[in-house]
Amino acid sequence: MQPENPLKSPVLVLGATSLIGGHLLERLRAAGVDPVAISRRPPAIDAGWLDADLSDPNLAEALAPVATVFSLSPIWLLPAALPALKANGMTRLVAFSSTSRFTKRDSAVAEERAVAARLAEAEADVEGFCLDQGVAWTLLRPTLIYDEGRDGNVSRLAGLIRRFGMLPLSGDGQGLRQPVHAQDLALGALAAATAPAAENRAYDLVGGETLTYRAMATRVFEGLGRRPVVVCLPPALFALMLKVAAPWLPGATAAMGARMEQDLTFDSGDARRDFGWSPRDFHPRF
Ligand SMILES: NC(=O)c1ccc[n+]([C@@H]2O[C@H](COP(=O)([O-])OP(=O)(O)OC[C@H]3O[C@@H](n4cnc5c(N)ncnc54)[C@H](OP(=O)(O)O)[C@@H]3O)[C@@H](O)[C@H]2O)c1
Repeated sequence: MQPENPLKSPVLVLGATSLIGGHLLERLRAAGVDPVAISRRPPAIDAGWLDADLSDPNLAEALAPVATVFSLSPIWLLPAALPALKANGMTRLVAFSSTSRFTKRDSAVAEERAVAARLAEAEADVEGFCLDQGVAWTLLRPTLIYDEGRDGNVSRLAGLIRRFGMLPLSGDGQGLRQPVHAQDLALGALAAATAPAAENRAYDLVGGETLTYRAMATRVFEGLGRRPVVVCLPPALFALMLKVAAPWLPGATAAMGARMEQDLTFDSGDARRDFGWSPRDFHPRF
């Protein structure tokens, strides 16, 4: 992914402690840019850190001048922070949202439908503000993000495999997935920020491979150097098991089992064309 025009400095990274944050800070530093990182916990990478809460009504006073903003925090925090960012000079915004805005829209679980609605509403607010205020914007919607040992998706599967030596699936686990690495997303965000074609557009960002949930689980076993042991359970039994295990699996919902049989796929052809999106295949290593 080659930048087509230079990144406008100063650069601010919101959500510096997210899965993507460390990779982005590293790349920015390697490119000779000194970013300012915002989060409530200190980032792992040595960068100028501003300990700030995005919902702080006095955010504008805490901020230094800024031109390019990368938003890696939940997008619903962004609309309230936009006036402060604009007041400090923001002219370019690259913000992460999620394909959950589509995949959870019709979920059987009310909380998931609420997440989808929050994402959609925040995207519309960000787009409206930027168009109104003359800020060039790009929205990036990743599918399932992984970063070996750090994420709550693929790494959680790895944790279960380590603990139990096997992985139960709901049904045959034939639903398609496109896991995307956090480092590829950092590279994609940088490329999008400097590609004129990516201005004022939204992209769904998928990983380099489309594979079934079962194949994805098998690759996790391979990444751990273990022989795959996948146990396919009737969906009703899996749902019951998930209910019993819920206290030990934060964020697990009844809808997770049902989704293992559903295709959650998107197309990143426009991102390939506009900013050279070229993510890796799914071969996690733990
Ligand atoms: N994880 C996934 O599979 C996935 C899939 C699709 C899209 N996404 C999107 O991709 C982005 C990165 O995902 P992630 O899972 O790494 O995000 P995450 O774990 O939710 O990280 C959120 C970041 O936002 C910061 N943050 C949260 N509340 C804040 C507040 N009030 N003030 C200041 N900072 C705040 C957190 O920092 P502190 O807690 O240190 O303040 C952290 O750096 C997010 O936009 C997410 O919605 C994630």
